[in-house]
Amino acid sequence: MATAKLTFQGKEYDFPIIEGTEGEIGIDITKLRAQTGAVTYDPGYMSTASCKSNITFIDGEKGILRYRGYPIEDLVKRAKFPAVAYLLIYGHLPDPNELDDWRRRLTMDSYIHEDMIKFFQGFPPNAHPMAILSAMVSSLSAYYPDTGRGEDMKRNVVRLLAQAKTIAAYSYKKSIGQSRIYPRTEFSYAANFLRMMFATPAEDYVAQPVLEDALNLLLIVHADHEQNCSTSTVRMVGSSRANLFAAASAGICALWGPLHGGANQAVIEMLERIERDGGDCDRFFARVKDKKARLMGFGHRVYKTYDPRAKILKEATDRVLNVLGINDPLVEIAKKIEERALNDSFFVERKLYPNVDFYSGILYRAMGIPTDMFTVMFALGRIPGWIAQWREMRSNPNQRICRPRQIYIGPTTQSFSGDN
Ligand code: ACO
Repeated sequence: MATAKLTFQGKEYDFPIIEGTEGEIGIDITKLRAQTGAVTYDPGYMSTASCKSNITFIDGEKGILRYRGYPIEDLVKRAKFPAVAYLLIYGHLPDPNELDDWRRRLTMDSYIHEDMIKFFQGFPPNAHPMAILSAMVSSLSAYYPDTGRGEDMKRNVVRLLAQAKTIAAYSYKKSIGQSRIYPRTEFSYAANFLRMMFATPAEDYVAQPVLEDALNLLLIVHADHEQNCSTSTVRMVGSSRANLFAAASAGICALWGPLHGGANQAVIEMLERIERDGGDCDRFFARVKDKKARLMGFGHRVYKTYDPRAKILKEATDRVLNVLGINDPLVEIAKKIEERALNDSFFVERKLYPNVDFYSGILYRAMGIPTDMFTVMFALGRIPGWIAQWREMRSNPNQRICRPRQIYIGPTTQSFSGDN
């Protein structure tokens, strides 16, 4: 077996090399401390792989994203979100019977316990829907405890996937003071969500196909992205054997931040500010270069080229806005900013390109989804990925609790004198 040699304090050590199926190389340093007394130091995990995984592959230099080997470009063209969720969670695309059963269960298990409806009353009307979603998802564990039995686990996977969208739609209905709409089996996952968001008891509502397709596409491109901040959080929490709902709720909180999933809301707020400034990008770019602001929706830890999801969403934005007959001034500003950034040495040198959040907000906006719901939409898409990663971790008999080390830099022993 190939090894990597480390010379440290005059001694030589060998560490095994591990190679992934796409040729990624890692040095297995799990025995480093035991053998040398030293730990690795890698804040932000710039060079650390936290697990082996067979779910999602990204090549950040080439702009490749695949779920279980299937390119994202094919999945958005040929699959619907429930099939992609099934693929991520169970490792293969469902056959027609499996898909029928899966779809039906996703609707039948999407009703939240009627007692939980009362929780919505406790939140202030302007509560951020991410606060509601994380609290409600965590609360699901009170109704569906983790018994450790396989059948319960299978059902909780469906409940999480199915009920998160109901919670999201109800939090919106509550914020605008409208009554709840229940999901129905004859509608798709995406159509049901749109119905629960936008139907009223006063008239029939059937989601426009263009909106249903756009939502499917948005959910699919967000469905998994290997060991990002929120997914790593889900694994971290799950490694203590915390239940699926608790781990997913922690993932939702991690996703909320503007450097991660919260960027989609931040992009639109940034574009609106530039629009209010009369579309003046010069001032904005000057602030970015002075490191007083960041161009939200740009840059990525892994992608050092155009994010393939951003490419898909940019194309979809033009198509959807065209069909809906929407002329959104923010689209022009976004395109102007993108073109300028891609030709500006500050961004070129740092390999900063649009990420998934740059165009997603414009699409959500065209679909009538309010800005503070954007990150909730991201979470709905990401739930299958969190579930898949949580299951993969929990099914590994050698999985240990995640517990990094530190380099202590505080005071050495101090003597306590006098009374306090
Ligand atoms: N605008 C301006 N400068 C940026 C940006 C940006 N969006 N992103 C990175 N930089 C600069 C940094 O200032 C830094 O410059 P320096 O080398 O002169 O110090 C350099 O590029 C590297 O940036 P880091 O912050 O070290 O890169 P990191 O990998 O840690 O961060 C992140 C990645 C958080 C995505 C970052 O690019 C960012 O803040 N982007 C804006 C927020 C955003 O869009 N987040 C969504 C990411 S995708 C997702 O989570 C779904």
